Amino acid sequence: LTLTSCGQEAKPAQAGELLRSKAKLPAPFQVPLPIPPVKKPLRSDAKADYFRVVQRKASIEILPGLKTEVMGYDGLLPGPTFDVRSGRTTVVEQVNQLDVSTVVHLHGGHTPAPSDGWPLDMIMPTNGEHSGQHMAGDMSMGSRTYTYPNTQRAATLWYHDHTMDYTAPQVYRGLFGLHIIRDDEEDNLPLPKGDREIPLVIADRAFDADGSFLYPALPDGPGVQPAYMEGVVADVTLVNGAPWPVHEVDAVRYRFRVLNASNARRYELGFDKGPAKFVQIGSDGGLLDKPVEHKTLVIAPAERFDVIVDFSQYQPGDEVTVVNRLDSNANVLRFKIARKAVDDSSIPAKLSLYAVMPRPSGVVRREWRFRRGSDGDHRGWTINGKAFDPAVMQAQVKLDQYEIWTFVTDVHHPVHVHLAPFQVLSRGGKAKVAEFDHGWKDTVDIRPAEVVEVLVRFTAHKGKYLIHCHNLEHEDMAMMAAFETI
Ligand code: C2O
Ligand code: CU
Repeated sequence: LTLTSCGQEAKPAQAGELLRSKAKLPAPFQVPLPIPPVKKPLRSDAKADYFRVVQRKASIEILPGLKTEVMGYDGLLPGPTFDVRSGRTTVVEQVNQLDVSTVVHLHGGHTPAPSDGWPLDMIMPTNGEHSGQHMAGDMSMGSRTYTYPNTQRAATLWYHDHTMDYTAPQVYRGLFGLHIIRDDEEDNLPLPKGDREIPLVIADRAFDADGSFLYPALPDGPGVQPAYMEGVVADVTLVNGAPWPVHEVDAVRYRFRVLNASNARRYELGFDKGPAKFVQIGSDGGLLDKPVEHKTLVIAPAERFDVIVDFSQYQPGDEVTVVNRLDSNANVLRFKIARKAVDDSSIPAKLSLYAVMPRPSGVVRREWRFRRGSDGDHRGWTINGKAFDPAVMQAQVKLDQYEIWTFVTDVHHPVHVHLAPFQVLSRGGKAKVAEFDHGWKDTVDIRPAEVVEVLVRFTAHKGKYLIHCHNLEHEDMAMMAAFETI
């Protein structure tokens, strides 16, 4: 795997260490929680809504008093939120005004292959030079139009960069945003709505003294820095783009759509005090059949948890902090209980017609082994002993048939499959669905030396799709495989 510099600025980081900011950091809970703006269509017709997004650099204030140059969808970090209806098509013209090539993937989308964000289907920048020469994909000059049929149930999806070899640094610099699909089944539930339904997009970043992002030097040839090798973790936690923000709430139920958009960090979210707990109502692929209660929420990169938190047991004036138990209770964000209020929401015992699928017999089984390793010149991470090669289809998968896929790991890897969601059948040999594995998932966190079996079925779209590790540095270091649906 040869990496060339596509205009990426490389900044060195200590090997194997947490990236520590050099900038003056604010005290936590000073910055109000931003809500990413909802993207407005340019026009709509009977079946579709048409949008235009400009990928551009922007200088924005993330740390109070400092400017950070981001690469953002519409210059924002996170990008604007798409809020769309199941069954209505979303057409997005993505214009690349950056000086690097980009690819857009709708994570969790049931998307035809030409719009799925194949890592070589790059949008070449109109104002850039190209020092990186990749083998041909379906490249376009300046812009590309992606079509998302949204033929799937209500769910919290997200879109992000997927450029071959450069996904991690480009997402780190800002190329990620939410894509929320709604449907009637969900709308008819008495769940918290309006400004009591809040996205929480969590991502860790580090900042240089001048406010610019710190990121490890990209590997140049076979030498890979250990900090990059393991995946980048940084010392500032952003929620919706703000460092350790604070949000005022009424003493009522709220719905939070939690996305871990971090490159490599996992969180175990918990409350520092009080009775608050998370009632999970949905997973990556939409609503569960019934709610599941959690004291803490373990969330790996790219996973989504749709949860209800009831603040009614707090008093006005109380503060409750969400911390990361996997990082010595490091701060994430804080809620201030502002006032008592009427709550007309509730959590129904039955959420959805979602069905737990039985384990079928006599179906095709495939094994995917995620391991550190080398493949020819490539050193880094592999799947089934191979570095990602876009010319090689590691599997041909028949549409409309259930298959059982087995994921095997050496160290921790969050495994993601494009096109179709799956249900976890077993983890570590246990058939009981583990605490955080409920529902339709598209990303499953596999712990060290663990075996997870999932049930998957691809439908509708023939073409080339991906399975990969969603530790984005692992992904860029070729821990990705292509398969073809036929
Ligand atoms: Cu969220 Cu292939 O990616
Ligand atoms: Cu990995």
